[in-house]
Order: sequence, then C-alpha cells, then structure tokens
Amino acid sequence: MGTIKIALVGIGNCASSLVQALHHYGNPSQATESAGLAHPMLGNYAVSDIEVVAAFDVNKHKVGKPLNKAIFATPNNAPKFGDIPGMKIIVQRGPTLDGITPELQELVEESDAKPVDVAAKLKESGAQILVGLLPSGASEATHFYADAALKAGCGYVNASPVLLASDPEWAQLFRSANLPLVGDDLMSQLGATALHRALLDFLVKRGVRIVESYQLDVGGGTESLESLHRARDQKRSLKTQSVSAEVPYEVPVTAGSSDYVYFMGNRRESYFYLRGRYIGDADFKIDLRLISQDAPNSTSILLDVIRGVQIGFDRGFVGPIDAVCSYGFKAPPRSYPLSLSEAIFEHFIRSTRPI
Ligand SMILES: NC(=O)c1ccc[n+]([C@@H]2O[C@H](COP(=O)([O-])OP(=O)(O)OC[C@H]3O[C@@H](n4cnc5c(N)ncnc54)[C@H](O)[C@@H]3O)[C@@H](O)[C@H]2O)c1
Repeated sequence: MGTIKIALVGIGNCASSLVQALHHYGNPSQATESAGLAHPMLGNYAVSDIEVVAAFDVNKHKVGKPLNKAIFATPNNAPKFGDIPGMKIIVQRGPTLDGITPELQELVEESDAKPVDVAAKLKESGAQILVGLLPSGASEATHFYADAALKAGCGYVNASPVLLASDPEWAQLFRSANLPLVGDDLMSQLGATALHRALLDFLVKRGVRIVESYQLDVGGGTESLESLHRARDQKRSLKTQSVSAEVPYEVPVTAGSSDYVYFMGNRRESYFYLRGRYIGDADFKIDLRLISQDAPNSTSILLDVIRGVQIGFDRGFVGPIDAVCSYGFKAPPRSYPLSLSEAIFEHFIRSTRPI
C-alpha cells in the first residue's frame, strides 16, 4: 500500500516511545502480537509502513536536533527501549503560543530560534498526517497546528484533550477540506481509563449493581504536571464521561489525574475503587493499583490510529472517522462501550467499502 508519511508536533514522551517503536518494530520479526502490539498488521499496513517526515517543537534542547536525539532530550523521561541510528529529520521550531505554562518554565527552556512557516514545511515534507502530541490544555497551539494541517492538506490526529474532533466547527472545517480528523484525548493501551472501563463492563455484564467508583492517579512526567495545573478539570471531566459510558444507569463516578510527583519519572500509579451490590443485596468492594509507564502506554493505540486514518484516507473518509475516534480516544464525537468500539474498529478495518 506504500508508506504513511507523518509529521509529529510535540516531541515529548509520547513521541519518544512512538519513534522508538517505529524503529524497533520496523523489523517485521519484532512486530508480533506477543511484542505488545494490538495489530502488527492493520488492514494492509505494517508498522514499518509509517515514516516520520517532519517534526516540530519549541524546546531549546530539541529544536535543531536530529529526531533520534531530540526524543531523549530533557525533560523527556520516557523509557529507552532501543538504540536508534542517526535520523535525517531535524526538529523544527514551531510557534510557542500557550505551549509552555509558568509551571513548566523550570523544566522547559524555550528555543530562541525563529518559528518556521509550519504549513509550508508540512507541504514541503510530503506529510499526509500531522500527529498532534501537544501538552494537555494547549488549546491555542492545538488550533494553530490543526489549521496548518488544513492549509497543507494533512489529516490530523489529536492526542491531546483539547476538543477538536468533538468540536462541530473543527469537524466541519476538516470535512469541507476533504481531510480526516481523529481525536480527542488518546486512550492508552493499558491505561487507567481503559482498565476502569473493562472492570465496569465486566461487572455490568455479570448483573452486578455498581454503587460508586473512582479512579485517581499520580505521575512524574510533564504531562502529569500539566494535568495537575491547567488541564485538571478538563481531563477529569473527559475521563469521567468516558468511564461513565460503560454503565447503563446513573452512578457516582470520578476519574482523573490527581497529582504530580517529580521523582516518579515516567511512572504512573492509578488507584481504583469500585463498590456495588449483587444478589440478595450482598455488597463488595474492589481496591486496585495499576503501576505503569506512561509513554509506552500510548504507542500501540497511536500506531493503530495512524494506520486507521490512512485507511480512512484510502477510502475517502473525511471529517471525524467515528470508528477510529471511538476506538482510540477518550473523548470521541460518539462514545460506545469499550467492547462495541473495538468491534466497530475491527469492522472498519476489514471492510473494503469506499464511501
Ligand atoms: N499515555 C500517554 O502518555 C497519553 C495518553 C493519552 C493522552 N496523551 C496526551 O498526549 C499529549 C502528549 O503527551 P506527552 O506525555 O508526550 O507530553 P509531553 O509534555 O511529554 O510533550 C509535549 C511536547 O510538546 C512540546 N510543545 C509545547 N508547545 C509546543 C508548541 N507550541 N509547538 C510544538 N511543540 C510544543 C513540548 O516542548 C513537549 O516536547 C498530551 O496532550 C497528553 O494528554 C498522552
């Protein structure tokens, strides 16, 4: 089917794991289900079909550096799982806008280079899809890059919780430009939201009445710091809505990032509490703790989403692609229970029907 040319904006921890995975699983013998990939092949696309052709950031330690070096620059702390040979892609300076908050200024040194014309650079690179990995809550920056994608004729993947695919105006702009758009707020492979939803789905299917539930987490990446300050309420609301979609009746649920602990590095600890009743009003409680690495948790789904957008492109899908959004994101335009969104995604991949 040919190569999927992508550009990355935000060379933080998610980008680090993604670029490492592209190299590591670029060798087809490594790209098997047992290696942590949900789909070694998605439709006709292998992981090795994805190629990064451009990258943008604002951090002094990343701008002007080859991508293989920039992904390990401070303050990134994603685990390193393989050596990456030199890459020709040099990280370009994008406009900062609201990308660096006062809380992040101690950790992120802003580049003094002049911002490039992002839309022109995207066009020049031949990118088909712009993958937005901007900080949570950076709405001006997210809107700027989405607009650059429109000008350059690229589809857009919005991993951040800023609403784009779920915003009818942005959805219409991409529809009118005949370009696909997917989002919002990427779902992790074994993230707290996915696990919480799976637990609730299990309980609902067993006929158990859920009385109340929460899921709170702490982490040490810049993303956790952002989630604590400017994006706390929004993240909490999106995660809570996503989790609540699993229960077919009203139930008190709270889900969201709670704190930042600097020495945790890229580790995230998520605490789950579920209380309910089953036959004869017998009650139960579940207390669980999930300890995971944040950045690699985003990678398998991101690889599926990128290939899903390309399949959408191949079949002429424009605007938000429902099947990809509900499978890969916590705040899609339309939410379904987890098992149904997975079934819809698999059907979309297998279908050969153009629109
Ligand atoms: N498992 C996960 O890690 C996960 C899951 C779901 C969603 N997400 C979302 O993915 C996004 C990225 O997460 P992350 O952990 O990689 O964040 P991060 O903080 O590690 O990286 C963000 C990057 O964006 C750069 N940036 C800031 N402003 C910019 C601008 N104007 N132009 C270009 N670059 C700019 C920063 O310098 C940094 O390199 C976040 O919005 C997060 O909520 C992550």
